[in-house]
Amino acid sequence: MSILDNYPLYIGGNWVDNKKKYDVINPATEEVIAQVPNGGPEEMKQAIEAAVHVQSDWADTVASERARILSDAAKLMRERTEKLARIMTLEEGKPLAESRGEIAYAASFFEWFAEEAKRIYGDTIPSNSKDKRILVMKRPVGVTAAITPWNFPAAMITRKIGPAFAAGCTMIVKPSELTPLSALEIAKIFEEVGLPKGVLSIVVGTDPVELTRVLMDDVRVRKISFTGSTSVGKLLMKQAADTMKRVSFELGGHAPFIVFPDADLDEAVSHAVLAKMRGMGETCVAANRFYVHEEISELFTEKLALRLEAMKVGNGLEEGVSVGPLIEPSAVRKVDEHVQDAIMKGAKLIVGGNRAGLEKGYFYPPTLLSNVNEEMKVSCEETFGPVAAILPFSTEEEVIQKANSTRYGLAAYFFTRDVGRLFRLAERLEYGILGANDGLPSTAQAPFGGVKESGLGREGSKYGIEEYLDIKYISLGGITKIEK
Ligand code: SIN
Repeated sequence: MSILDNYPLYIGGNWVDNKKKYDVINPATEEVIAQVPNGGPEEMKQAIEAAVHVQSDWADTVASERARILSDAAKLMRERTEKLARIMTLEEGKPLAESRGEIAYAASFFEWFAEEAKRIYGDTIPSNSKDKRILVMKRPVGVTAAITPWNFPAAMITRKIGPAFAAGCTMIVKPSELTPLSALEIAKIFEEVGLPKGVLSIVVGTDPVELTRVLMDDVRVRKISFTGSTSVGKLLMKQAADTMKRVSFELGGHAPFIVFPDADLDEAVSHAVLAKMRGMGETCVAANRFYVHEEISELFTEKLALRLEAMKVGNGLEEGVSVGPLIEPSAVRKVDEHVQDAIMKGAKLIVGGNRAGLEKGYFYPPTLLSNVNEEMKVSCEETFGPVAAILPFSTEEEVIQKANSTRYGLAAYFFTRDVGRLFRLAERLEYGILGANDGLPSTAQAPFGGVKESGLGREGSKYGIEEYLDIKYISLGGITKIEK
């Protein structure tokens, strides 16, 4: 057992270390790096009780104090970057430099929402009656829950806690059982900066369905925010109907990456590497389908091949490694299945595509396929891995149709120096996030979220806090005029 072996759950402001534990595995070495209590329905119920108990006090805490807590948490996170990044790499696999980047990204949500906490404004509306006034105020929705994924073990949590706390909501976080350590480190930080007990709980366990069911069935949990697959999102939406919970969902994506002949090709290639290879391709916004104009597709493929071949695959803690392992063996199997399916249907393998020399750890090398068509799994399903599939196109109309021909609508990227075309694409591509000459649009101050089956609601930005606020309308009567 390594140094990371003592991680109790955080429930209602107490560290709870029950007897049953499960192993947390390092995907690069397949070794156990920590053991975490296996939370179940009982722990989840305790977390809900604690949140319910303190919700109204927390809602009444002045905005400047909620802002102070978020801002101090961000400072501690940044101070602890090295430690937190290392833990993240150990449990998730991403290279250390990326983990450091994620800690900065995670802290930025606390910083952004610490400011937004002070800007929850109401409204007055002219009334049709001389005797009345119309007032609008915003109030926290109440107890909320976050169900978060393993691919961003810190940032997907802070992107939900930030607006929840800023709005005055308590929150119960159920992180992925694969990456609980970053989540529990965030709880330690909040304890140190003086978050009142009960406002945050972190409950994790190996039966996520059972844990989630407790949250969904409890009428006192007023909102759920989920980042994960579209299939689970649909299930949660059905379950939320029974108690009419508010929901926000950040679900699957199948991002097109479109390159026109007038684009700066070298820039487009650099952004392609970012949009594809960040987190080993295990992001919802990862570029999946590379539509490259037929005039430049060969050159683009050559340049991208050189960049992907040069990437060092290995344990993310090692110097120079830029591609870590995937999260688990099933992820490797899925990626390989997509690659083999494409090859079988006529795609040409340019780079990668086999795991030779990578037996220990859940690695898959950066892989580039050309000659891809719409019948192959890589072009119709989210691969969630380091595979770039090139599909040549000839006209703008054709590529817009193809890019939109998916049930997903999270992120799309396009590269052109023609301003008219840029606007046409921005308007017609059915996606919530558009990277126009930009392969990395995510940032705390911009609205993150999708359309179609990629989700509901927005995270980050001034829009993100609205998901945690209810609008209350006060009709104020009896404003009779004083007779002169
Ligand atoms: C995700 O892939 O789920 C989030 C990516 C991001 O925040 O950029």
